[in-house]
Amino acid sequence: MQTIRVETPTAKYDVMAGSGLLSSLAPRIERIVGKLPRRVFVLTSASIWALWGENFLVSFAEAPVVLFLEPGEKFKTLASVEKLARQMARAGADRGSLLIAFGGGIVGDVGGFLAAIYMRGIPYIQVPTTLLAQVDSSVGGKTGVNLPEGKNLVGNFHHPLAVFADIETLGTLPERELRAGLLESVKAGIIRDRSLVRFMEEHADQVLECDAKALERVIAASIRMKAGVVHLDERESGLRMILNFGHTVGHALEQATHYKTLLHGEAVGWGMVAALHLARQRGTISQTQFERLEVLVYLYGPLPVLSLRTARVVAATGGDKKNVNGVRRFVLPIGIGDAGVVEDVTPEELQAAVEYMLARAGEQHA
Ligand SMILES: NC(=O)c1ccc[n+]([C@@H]2O[C@H](COP(=O)([O-])OP(=O)(O)OC[C@H]3O[C@@H](n4cnc5c(N)ncnc54)[C@H](O)[C@@H]3O)[C@@H](O)[C@H]2O)c1
Repeated sequence: MQTIRVETPTAKYDVMAGSGLLSSLAPRIERIVGKLPRRVFVLTSASIWALWGENFLVSFAEAPVVLFLEPGEKFKTLASVEKLARQMARAGADRGSLLIAFGGGIVGDVGGFLAAIYMRGIPYIQVPTTLLAQVDSSVGGKTGVNLPEGKNLVGNFHHPLAVFADIETLGTLPERELRAGLLESVKAGIIRDRSLVRFMEEHADQVLECDAKALERVIAASIRMKAGVVHLDERESGLRMILNFGHTVGHALEQATHYKTLLHGEAVGWGMVAALHLARQRGTISQTQFERLEVLVYLYGPLPVLSLRTARVVAATGGDKKNVNGVRRFVLPIGIGDAGVVEDVTPEELQAAVEYMLARAGEQHA
């Protein structure tokens, strides 16, 4: 097991990543909070509970109250938060209650937000069960829900007391979800950790076969990268923006496909291809580096085929939530293991990057 410390101006906590954490959860939580509070709540989804609920409960002397969130972005809403808060109130939740978010990124984001606003904030713990949630969404304190007008438009920062990422739970994750999560690790390596890039190149077979040691290495390195960035810039006023590498075009693709065709990690995968093209054109990466990194993205794909018009995708980049005052932000790698934010990408450059990416995305038809 690896323990990674997250330290920000407002919170300090450990992220534990390894196999078998789930079955020893209660004593591990007690080491952090002392005796478990009278009311412990678990937010999960029915399918995750069916797969892993028994294992989850094994270490609890008294069973927690289980709350269920229906699966999918469609239920990542204020209405769900209200429904869950009312269930908690009826079950006697008070300021001393503890909430455990047990599931993928959606459960984590909704659970974190619920904990942030229930009685103006109660403590919570993240037990992420998708690779994306383990390497990305459970760390850093961002919580929130969607509005019909856009994703994650309502939310706040509320850090968990701890994160327990049990690699064994990934054993039941569909391969497509696993690969989508691994693309976030590819992102982590490209922007901040060249040794992770090398490891993911050299050990792709083991990682994709879910070899525990190889996965632990990738997951821990990705979490370490995120913890390091969040430590330096909790509120995304500067450095944290580099975590959005691949997201400018990635979000545009999600929007242009109505969030139906692509998993988030896959959209980021194609978004990284566009950003890599732009970086090569600007000379922040060499042709050799470009080829190496593009191959790495496809290695952890395969990314879904897309047939979209360039203009549609370019237009959608204008609506990215990360844009401020209408300025379109792009994260570009600088060599391998470093990245910077640029705001002066011309319409021609953007068009060329999207055209390149869509041509590659269409080629996969063959
Ligand atoms: N807070 C942040 O910093 C942050 C960062 C990135 C993404 N996110 C959010 O994360 C969400 C996406 O998270 P996700 O990719 O984990 O999707 P998800 O939560 O929808 O989970 C994907 C699917 O896998 C299933 N699943 C989960 N664990 C499983 C397991 N162990 N075995 C079998 N099936 C399992 C889920 O039921 C679901 O159907 C998005 O809403 C995104 O906005 C948040």
